Amino acid sequence: MSEPLAVVVLAAGAGTRMVSSRPKVLHEVAGRSMVAHVLRAARGLDPQSVVVVTGHGADQVEDELAGTGVVFARQDRQLGTGHAFLQAATALGSFDGDILVLYGDTPLVRQETLTAVVARHREAQAGMTIVTAQLENPTGYGRIIRGSNGEVLRIVEEKAATPAQRLVKETNSGVYVFDRRALDLAAQIQNNNSAQEYYLTDILERYLSEGLRAVAYEASDATELLGVNDRLQLAFAEGVLQARSRERLMRAGVTLRDPASTFIEDTVTVACDVTLDPGVHLSGATSIGRNCRIGPNCSLNNTTLEENVIVAGWTVMDGASVASGATVGPFARLRAGSILGQHAHVGNFVEVKDSILEANVKAGHLAYLGDVRLREETNIGAGTIIANYDGLNKYRSDIGPGAFIGSNSVIVSPVTIGAGGFVAAGSTITEDVPEGALAVARGKQKTIEGWAFRFWRRLLAGARPGAHPVIRAWLAARGSQK
Ligand code: UD1
Ligand code: CA
Repeated sequence: MSEPLAVVVLAAGAGTRMVSSRPKVLHEVAGRSMVAHVLRAARGLDPQSVVVVTGHGADQVEDELAGTGVVFARQDRQLGTGHAFLQAATALGSFDGDILVLYGDTPLVRQETLTAVVARHREAQAGMTIVTAQLENPTGYGRIIRGSNGEVLRIVEEKAATPAQRLVKETNSGVYVFDRRALDLAAQIQNNNSAQEYYLTDILERYLSEGLRAVAYEASDATELLGVNDRLQLAFAEGVLQARSRERLMRAGVTLRDPASTFIEDTVTVACDVTLDPGVHLSGATSIGRNCRIGPNCSLNNTTLEENVIVAGWTVMDGASVASGATVGPFARLRAGSILGQHAHVGNFVEVKDSILEANVKAGHLAYLGDVRLREETNIGAGTIIANYDGLNKYRSDIGPGAFIGSNSVIVSPVTIGAGGFVAAGSTITEDVPEGALAVARGKQKTIEGWAFRFWRRLLAGARPGAHPVIRAWLAARGSQK
């Protein structure tokens, strides 16, 4: 495509049928706003410029799309799609080429289809090309009215359609390619319809009345051109995108044991021979290496797994990175900045945040590991807490290699525990432990012989008969001697 192309995306409408305080085009499907999906497809055509027309919730929409290289044009009052298109005129300036117009509420449209439409438009040397779709249930869409020779004549909106026109199943998808004259012709559109809106669809008649060529391009896959006006259509669009993602993975050698319950955003990459159990959610920039196995109901966001990682069920990872052969879960939580080395193990009810667990580190049960570096082969006992926060600041500790932290210890950061160092179970460590040392930081055990016999005897003397029958029997057998 050597000729210049500009893209205009209409995204100013209120989206009343969504019943939402959020602008319609910002509602998400498969993890991204609808307008972001449209822009992604459009960008694949390498256009010279992309103009997004904003209006309802403009600040929100523009914030969301900031930094993506698009130009914004404001439509202060939502007077219809024809009026919205005209608002792009200033931004387009003296642009001289073809203009691809898209609606921000059609998230399923694919780049391949857009490329084909633009190519068709150019082959046909048309002034205007409109993309149409055959729909079993065309309710809500504009209908394509053709003449006796099959030529397109008009687009009639549902509201204005006669009963006979409503039976037409060929609909307007809202994807158009125009030549530069569109900006002049759109300015001639009138709002003499029941909604008193300036319909962009009326531009077809303007083209024809000028004796210019207008053609229709019927899309082969009608679902791709779904316009999302309400939450039901939003859910339908999600379903279509999920089906595409699942198919992409399965064709690439990934086993989805229950595709229907597996949610995958299209930003995710998964290598072959990975198995995903039911209820797995993969989102953001997640990437999974070969031979990994993800158990039921796990959620991985912006997470990287190397090869042969086993993630047991009900594990949540967000911003983690896990080296090959590591095992995680069930019921583990890896938060942002969790880095696990090869063959590391993080077990049930362990939370990790902004920490490095080097190769062969084991933290099998019930621990909080925040802002800590655990060097190779360090063992973290059940119930260990890294106390990294004093209410104002976070501190980091450095432990190992080969250290052994006894169960139920509190490591009050910042401390360093040297190579092979031992921390006795139940210790509260506030000072560094040198290499090869043992630190015991707990009350020393005191055992008082016979104390419990005396206690129980006194207690049961005043108790109702029948209370504590086991203790009574034991006292009767043994306690009389003490
Ligand atoms: C529109 C088409 C209809 C087509 C359908 C396909 C018109 C008049 N009708 O109907 O023929 O079958 O899309 O999905 O074009 N917008 C603005 N400013 C406005 C009004 C709308 O920017 O003043 C934007 C909306 O944000 C939306 C898009 O234009 O992204 C389409 O508007 P919408 O109200 O959804 O049009 P439909 O009734 O679906
Ligand atoms: Ca729509």
